[in-house]
Amino acid sequence: LSLFFLLLLCTFCTSQINTLLAISIFHCKVCVFTQLSPEERRLLDSIAWPETPRLPVPISLSTASDPAHSTFTILPVRAGGQWHVGDELEALIQICDFQGRPKQFGGDFLVARLHDPELGAGVAGRVVDHLNGSYTAVFPLLWEGQVTLVHSSEAITVLRRLTTEQPGRVYFKSLFQSGSVSETMVCNVCLPPTQPLCNYTDLHTGEPWFCYKPKNLRCDTRINHYKGGFMVGKTDLYDIHITDVRFIFLSGQPEVKSSTVKPEPVGYYYQGAWRALGGTTVHQFNNPSAISQCLTDKVVHLHGDSTIRQWFEYLNSVLPDLKEFNLHSRRQNGPFMSVDMARNILVKFSCHAPPLRFSSIPTNELHYIANELDRLVGGSNTVVVIGIWSHFSTFPIVLYMRRLQSIRRAVLRLLNRAPGTLVVIRTANLKALTLSETLTNSDWYSLQRDKVLRATFKGLNVRLVDAWEMSLAHHLPHSLHPQTPIIKNMIDIVLSYTCPQKNG
Ligand SMILES: *[C@@H]1O[C@H](CO)[C@@H](O)[C@H](O)[C@H]1NC(C)=O
Ligand SMILES: *[C@@H]1O[C@H](CO)[C@@H](O)[C@H](O)[C@H]1NC(C)=O
Repeated sequence: LSLFFLLLLCTFCTSQINTLLAISIFHCKVCVFTQLSPEERRLLDSIAWPETPRLPVPISLSTASDPAHSTFTILPVRAGGQWHVGDELEALIQICDFQGRPKQFGGDFLVARLHDPELGAGVAGRVVDHLNGSYTAVFPLLWEGQVTLVHSSEAITVLRRLTTEQPGRVYFKSLFQSGSVSETMVCNVCLPPTQPLCNYTDLHTGEPWFCYKPKNLRCDTRINHYKGGFMVGKTDLYDIHITDVRFIFLSGQPEVKSSTVKPEPVGYYYQGAWRALGGTTVHQFNNPSAISQCLTDKVVHLHGDSTIRQWFEYLNSVLPDLKEFNLHSRRQNGPFMSVDMARNILVKFSCHAPPLRFSSIPTNELHYIANELDRLVGGSNTVVVIGIWSHFSTFPIVLYMRRLQSIRRAVLRLLNRAPGTLVVIRTANLKALTLSETLTNSDWYSLQRDKVLRATFKGLNVRLVDAWEMSLAHHLPHSLHPQTPIIKNMIDIVLSYTCPQKNG
């Protein structure tokens, strides 16, 4: 309760500052972020979401978007066409409200995919918002399709408001301890200066982090970091069944259209295996010896959140000769380390620094990825994998932008001193959305972060694993932690980057 109250104070202190950017918490006196750079502003503009409706309170559900009343038309087209791989299918989707009236404005969050269970095939579509209640979904191949209304535009109004008004709805704590004295204090990226603070801002990267100072202990007695909990004040989300995900199915007799909107998927599934479009050939690493051979003489550094930890777990589970060293770490946090002595393979995982919603993690295991990269010599036997997105969802996006920029600078330094280093970036993925998940971790928040991630690393000599498309195109349900068949496909991509095969 106290934190919510403090955040209200915080909002109050910002109300005099005219900002369009929903970064109010950062303008509290305690953690003034400098002005947005032109680059940051450009990035923010590039991810701008359409206007969503101002909502009356209480919200009237009858005017919100309703998949059950919404319709689609597969656009009729060129006569006599035969279907070819790479052809485009276009569907016009009209979103209607709960009373069946066509919506007049855009801003709904839709995702689209085509899939064919028999062929084990699937591909993500691209959705274009016409800002008048209609949307076009464009797909490159012909299978049965599915469009999911993830959130109505009304829900997005509420999600936006949540970020502005309750950025501290996931809150953090630290235990301070010295001898027999211990105190637990609230911590965050920014705290209203209502009591003395301990400043844990990283001197190297400049990443801010604060705790309230314990009454009887010094700031250097902080021994751990953990998620305090999740707290949401009054929100209209409970009124507006936004997590009620339903589907609009596309089927029927579609015809080919040469569309003006290029779907540009990065790949698709066929017989359960991911095939990349454009450039990389993804090879199947179906047995341990192929994987071990690829990783021979390599050091693989995995940095990030639990979706990267999954990759560590996968490699350990499929490689019998890769033995995990017992570092006595908690399963959620790491660090972890596995070795195959015979083949000189080392695989390491470490989680990223706060904001991090793990259970208790020792403070000396909190490492900013940029600092970790600066400690690497790098080279052609080094593979660096970075995956950081999910724990930033409740914060104003500027925090994430700055975290990525510090990582980007470290990647540039690494590639400059050791150009042979392979750097792989894992993007965000879609997840199952319960109500509480939506409030803290909606796919809509992930989508914004995903766009920032891609823009930040664009043009660098790094490779992407497009977890967004891979989770969308797959028939398995969306999950924060994608299931093993999807992980297997992701690892195949990493290994294909690591060991490109000639004539492949
Ligand atoms: C926290 O420490 C950083 C780095 O020393 C400093 O730049 C910043 O001004 C400090 N913030 C506060 C509120 O003391
Ligand atoms: C909405 O805009 C699209 C694209 O401009 C157009 O094709 C469609 O007819 C419009 N729908 C309505 C209801 O005006």
